[in-house]
Amino acid sequence: MITVNGHRYEPDSALQERKLSDWLREDLVLTGVKIGCDIGVCGSCTVLVDGKARHSCKMLVKDAIGHEIITIEGISPKDGTLHPLQQAFVDAGAIQCGFCTPGMVLGALALLMVNHHPSRSEIRQALKGNICRCTGYQQIVDAVQNAARIMYPVPK
Ligand code: FES
Ligand code: FES
Repeated sequence: MITVNGHRYEPDSALQERKLSDWLREDLVLTGVKIGCDIGVCGSCTVLVDGKARHSCKMLVKDAIGHEIITIEGISPKDGTLHPLQQAFVDAGAIQCGFCTPGMVLGALALLMVNHHPSRSEIRQALKGNICRCTGYQQIVDAVQNAARIMYPVPK
């Protein structure tokens, strides 16, 4: 069994040899999983696997059995509002074409879950596997720091 955004799936043996990224996009229509390089270099296909950022194009469906997958579709509240990290990307102007954004947001979320107040260099280090072809890295780092302040406010 694989859990994807809270839903449970039992992929049959034929499906298990497919790339996880293809299964998520084509069968589950979770098209926020973007395919850039398809060889584990660009990070656009990043998903959370048990809370850790992973390149889904480098995993097979069978690698995900027994694990919990979260895609960008799974992080925002059901009321249609944005997750604080998504909102921070919007507010900081960290989205240009947007192709890298789902992967960036999920990579940043994985970081913030274990490091509530990362430095700029820690953010850059955590997102080094995510390439932005529009090269808006400054605003992306700004967005992650701003989201951290909102998600994990420091008591006064
Ligand atoms: S599409 Fe998976 S890392 Fe580029
Ligand atoms: S915003 Fe265009 S690839 Fe990052």
